Amino acid sequence: MAPFVALFLLLLFVGDLALCNARWEGIPTTLDGPFEPVTVPIPDEGFRGHAVDLPPSDPRVRRKVEGFMPEQVSVSLSAEYDSVWVSWVTGEFQIGDDIKPLDPKTVSSVVRYGRVSHLLKHEATGDSLIYNQLYPFEGLQNYTSGIIHHVRLTGLKPGKLYYYQCGDPSIPAMSDIHVFRTMPISGPQRYPSRIAVVGDLGLTYNSTSTVDHLRINKPDLILLVGDATYANLYLTNGTGTDCYSCSFSQTPIHETYQPRWDYWGRFMEPLVSEIPMMVVEGNHELELQAENITFASYSARFAFPAEESRSFSTFYYSFNAGGIHFIMLGAYISYNKSDDQYKWLEGDLANVDRSVTPWLVAIWHPPWYSTYKAHYREAECMRVEMEGLLYSYRVDLVFNGHVHAYERSNRVYNYSLDPCGPVYITVGDGGNREKMAIHHADDPGKCPDPLTTPDEIMGGFCAFNFTTGAAAGKFCWDRQPDYSAYRESSFGHGILEVANETHALWTWHRNQDMYNSPGDQIIIVRQPDKCPVNNPRKSSSRRIYSI
Ligand SMILES: [Fe+2]
Repeated sequence: MAPFVALFLLLLFVGDLALCNARWEGIPTTLDGPFEPVTVPIPDEGFRGHAVDLPPSDPRVRRKVEGFMPEQVSVSLSAEYDSVWVSWVTGEFQIGDDIKPLDPKTVSSVVRYGRVSHLLKHEATGDSLIYNQLYPFEGLQNYTSGIIHHVRLTGLKPGKLYYYQCGDPSIPAMSDIHVFRTMPISGPQRYPSRIAVVGDLGLTYNSTSTVDHLRINKPDLILLVGDATYANLYLTNGTGTDCYSCSFSQTPIHETYQPRWDYWGRFMEPLVSEIPMMVVEGNHELELQAENITFASYSARFAFPAEESRSFSTFYYSFNAGGIHFIMLGAYISYNKSDDQYKWLEGDLANVDRSVTPWLVAIWHPPWYSTYKAHYREAECMRVEMEGLLYSYRVDLVFNGHVHAYERSNRVYNYSLDPCGPVYITVGDGGNREKMAIHHADDPGKCPDPLTTPDEIMGGFCAFNFTTGAAAGKFCWDRQPDYSAYRESSFGHGILEVANETHALWTWHRNQDMYNSPGDQIIIVRQPDKCPVNNPRKSSSRRIYSI
């Protein structure tokens, strides 16, 4: 490289850092903590924005294509920068008594792509499938999906724009040309500019507001921390409610209305056909069918780097985005130490090279450190089983959803403030039609009966009274717990900006604010010298996979 080019690049880099530092000036860092707990009061107990689902007639959810033209196009990441998945749907879904599943072999799965829009010189082919949502009960309707296609593109260059078109050229039925950008190559100084984090999104007018705000923030990557469509707030006849169990207590099985998934895929297409989105399952994706079939739609519709991260599961997997290693965990399958997920997690963590991906971020749906009454300590068995492992590998940051509000923790481990524990952030405030969480377990009279707190899907009871600390002998605190730094019941999303191997800015954006007005901000500072990784398996083997 010519010396003047190197000097120019250096000046650019220094200039970027200076700009970043100027913008970050005055924002508190985790080194200033632990912070005194803050609760932002809500203006009105009934406040929940416009929590009404978009109707099927809304132009944003109506089918706009004909025949086997692609729709619901999306991009998701593989495990490394050089590969992505492109997914889409062809053909119409059917719902009713007499459905005839489409044959996925009748439409091929082809993506043409390239670095310039008029010359898509590369071609990749993939697989297609359909899924059924069957309810063999009198009066209930069955659903069969359109043909769902997943194609993996490989050999991509880092940080570059790629144009693509997907479909079946033999029909011909090809999509419009879309464009996405690949992630930077992994390294301690290379990061995506902005990563959006959103949870419990749904498809209401609040959800559309959240997505509008998110889009304005121009993320390079979107993380959806579970609970996407809320199709399971509907009966198979299309009747919906804000609370399924309150309204439909007599149904033979918890029904869903699967066309809501198609509506959601259509609504999300303009965003996720151009910005990769990574998803982990929430409880609303479970969607029980006869013979205990679960998560059929979730597992069929999204693409996951399951094989690439050697989890071979749609429920847990990992991937790199620049110098960040993301771990997605499943809360609604076994997380026990003796089972596959835990063993995979041990192997995945042991293989993380923090000199290449200094940041370690974990994501799952139900939070361990939420202080709201809703779902209070519901995921305690998962915490008991997995927290020690994540702590020993110095997970920096955890994102959760499930609780429909916002909360940020101080650094915490095993309910004690700990400078080497992760920061936990709950962003279950995407805007779905269920109620917003407004009560806290420490509010007078709001501490739930411990026996009501376990989620029956997650199994077990592990949330006993605290044995030490300020809440010793009690199930709930009598004030906002010291591990809770900031909590507020508003809809919104967050943006993570990692500057280098030690500093990252987290900003929570509320839907009611102007676009440049943050609701909560914190600079998260890693201290690798003070908090070294405890990686006992690293010395014995460089690559360990337990599968
Ligand atoms: Fe949830």
